[in-house]
Amino acid sequence: MHVLVTGGTGFIGSALVPRLRGDGHEVTILSRGKHADGGGVRYVQSLDALADDAGVDAVINLAGASLNGRRWTEAYKREMVASRLHTTAAVVALCRRLARPPSVLVSASAIGYYGDRGDETLDEQSSMGEGFSAELCRDWEAAAREAEALGTRVVLARLGVVLDREGGAFVELSRPFRFGIANWLGSGRQYLSWVHRADVIAAFAFLLEQEALAGPVNVTAPAPVTHRTLCAALRRRLTTLPGMPVPGFVMRIMLGEVADELLLAGQKVLPKRLEAAGFAFHYRDIDSAVGQLLGKP
Ligand SMILES: NC(=O)c1ccc[n+]([C@@H]2O[C@H](COP(=O)([O-])OP(=O)(O)OC[C@H]3O[C@@H](n4cnc5c(N)ncnc54)[C@H](OP(=O)(O)O)[C@@H]3O)[C@@H](O)[C@H]2O)c1
Repeated sequence: MHVLVTGGTGFIGSALVPRLRGDGHEVTILSRGKHADGGGVRYVQSLDALADDAGVDAVINLAGASLNGRRWTEAYKREMVASRLHTTAAVVALCRRLARPPSVLVSASAIGYYGDRGDETLDEQSSMGEGFSAELCRDWEAAAREAEALGTRVVLARLGVVLDREGGAFVELSRPFRFGIANWLGSGRQYLSWVHRADVIAAFAFLLEQEALAGPVNVTAPAPVTHRTLCAALRRRLTTLPGMPVPGFVMRIMLGEVADELLLAGQKVLPKRLEAAGFAFHYRDIDSAVGQLLGKP
């Protein structure tokens, strides 16, 4: 297949593209940067560079300004929304223009769709939550669904917090523990619906092939945990002093809205549709994932 990947240079895309190449796919990456083509990968800075007869069979839509690592000012919130909605609209416009629309669009979304839900168990049929992240995901998903009118199968991959030793949330969350300070954030009772990056890559490859799957699909490990349980898995492997938890109000002062939306909010999300379709997670529980991530099984 010829697979177009937007945001293919990022944390997920940089691991996904080698997998797609390994599976024998031809890959085009949409990137704002200039990159040399090679190894079966072509880069475009605009989708206008793809001819009407480009023969794109599948699109994986990952591009968007990062949700963490920066304070959410009003201007940055506009950038987080616009970067996703504009890219997704451009993907749909390309699908419309192509002589043959892609058979599948796997578009990233996030479990932020469900908002802050305490210990309620959530699956793909659960209602949308409240807040900036939920509204962003709703609009991002609606933009992707525009391709359904063209006969394209649209999968909305609601990603959990993706963990890997090469970057993303695990590097941030585990840093205090590496310095010998064990702590959780806020009450520590909020649920973290995590997923190992290796399983995200395998799930994207699976979703490309599963012709019966469309609509929302949670991409989260089958066993979400509270922050306290994550801390316990880290402390089993790293020697730490019993540190003070970081109170929610301190996090709000330090980080602003992002603290409430991403770190103190919790969702207990299950990958019901992936599992029903027969997807086998390699990292099902947090202990095996943390063991691999720290190199201490
Ligand atoms: N990682 C997670 O834990 C997680 C969880 C839930 C959802 N997601 C979603 O999954 C997608 C991929 O995640 P990721 O962690 O791989 O993301 P990432 O590394 O932060 O970014 C993906 C790519 O988006 C492009 N990008 C960044 N800012 C942009 C902007 N202002 N306008 C247009 N493109 C921009 C960049 O590509 P170029 O610089 O090459 O243009 C970047 O490589 C994201 O949309 C993210 O929201 C991720």
